[in-house]
Amino acid sequence: MSKTFVDNTYVVQPGGCLQGPVQVPGDKSISHRSIMLGALADGRSQVTGFLDGLDCLATRDAFRAMGVSIEGPKDRSVTIHGVGLAGLREASGALDLGNSGTSMRLLSGLLSAQRFDSELAGDESLNRRPMRRVIEPLQLMGAQIESSEAGTAPLKIRGGQTLRGIEYRLPVASAQVKSAIILAGLYATGRTIVYEPAPTRDHTERMLQSLGYPLIVESGRVEIRSGGQLTGRPIEVPADISSAAFWMVGASIAPDSDIVLRKVGINPTRTGIIDILRLMGGDIEVQRLPDMGAEPVADIRVRSANLKGIEIPVELVPLAIDEFPVIFVAAACAEGETRLTGAEELRVKESDRLSVMADALNVVGIAAQTTPDGICIRGGRMMGGEIDSHGDHRVAMAMAMAGLRARSPIRIKQCRNVETSFPGFVEIAQRTGLSIEVADD
Ligand code: S3P
Repeated sequence: MSKTFVDNTYVVQPGGCLQGPVQVPGDKSISHRSIMLGALADGRSQVTGFLDGLDCLATRDAFRAMGVSIEGPKDRSVTIHGVGLAGLREASGALDLGNSGTSMRLLSGLLSAQRFDSELAGDESLNRRPMRRVIEPLQLMGAQIESSEAGTAPLKIRGGQTLRGIEYRLPVASAQVKSAIILAGLYATGRTIVYEPAPTRDHTERMLQSLGYPLIVESGRVEIRSGGQLTGRPIEVPADISSAAFWMVGASIAPDSDIVLRKVGINPTRTGIIDILRLMGGDIEVQRLPDMGAEPVADIRVRSANLKGIEIPVELVPLAIDEFPVIFVAAACAEGETRLTGAEELRVKESDRLSVMADALNVVGIAAQTTPDGICIRGGRMMGGEIDSHGDHRVAMAMAMAGLRARSPIRIKQCRNVETSFPGFVEIAQRTGLSIEVADD
């Protein structure tokens, strides 16, 4: 992969408020799964509301490389001509999954069970992220996977293995690991059972069931057997609550804001951001709409509020795992101290989100101190300054929202990866009231 590219810088002018209806793009986790499960189904699946971010396009391209015909996205609609559970073919080279941990971890499970060999590669950030968490359970099932000595990508997966079902207790709460094992379980002999230490997003389970695959889902436990079949059908993707989260915080911290986020997925394994903001004093109304397929959906109205610092309940951590960069911005604008514990997972996301966010907040004059598994942030006056997002999309977007309460401009470097999860972020931000421009790095 070429390493020479032009990155970009966000320049955010201080102040302003957020107003109006906001339609954020489709859910990333559900969009990935729509390609994967649509490809494994028999027949056609038309996906609407698909997220055309780079991560989901990497998943699409991987399946195209394995012989699946996929049209789009065009107007956020994708048509997948499923090849059935036994229909994937060997790709002619390594599958490049870019920045996408979800693609790499879920595909590790699926490809461990295929007749052919595969190689999975990623960008610099993805090649640093821990893969042993998927490799170990898959090896217990009989998979043959080679990684670097550090347990990182690129991964070489030897096909032609007969996988056997396992009973596995996840050592970390991870939907990606759970999903990798479930996908391998589609092909394994006997029963595959996963126990999770805390609830994590269950989009894989919901979509498998909605495409007709039998699965036993109980609290903290999922059981699957091979021998079933997936049937292609229309899949509607709700707006991504993880993208909506930037507006939830932005509207909460900026005086005179009043926004409605349209058709947002409110799967209970994802709504920690709403609970945390409400605990901080946020003014959030959730109006339920009809479900989209297997997923609950709502319009969410958010108005400005005087936030106060809290101890974030540890049980909410997995339910808000991707939202912490912007929750830290809410904490920086709140009265008093916010403490997070039990969140060491944030150190192995697209960046070390505890350190990178603490550094960014310190630059703009906020006292933020990390601990091994969390952070302590004292709300205060936010100044401006130049910060480095370290190529982490959610850090970039979180610090852009911080501009609403800053006293002078904030420059955020390395924002190109916002395209991985939120194409159109800058345009939507400008339209709803943020003074943001893009410059070359
Ligand atoms: C995801 C699971 C989470 C989340 C990631 C998407 C998924 O990762 O952080 O952005 O789609 O399954 P972990 O499984 O590592 O917690």
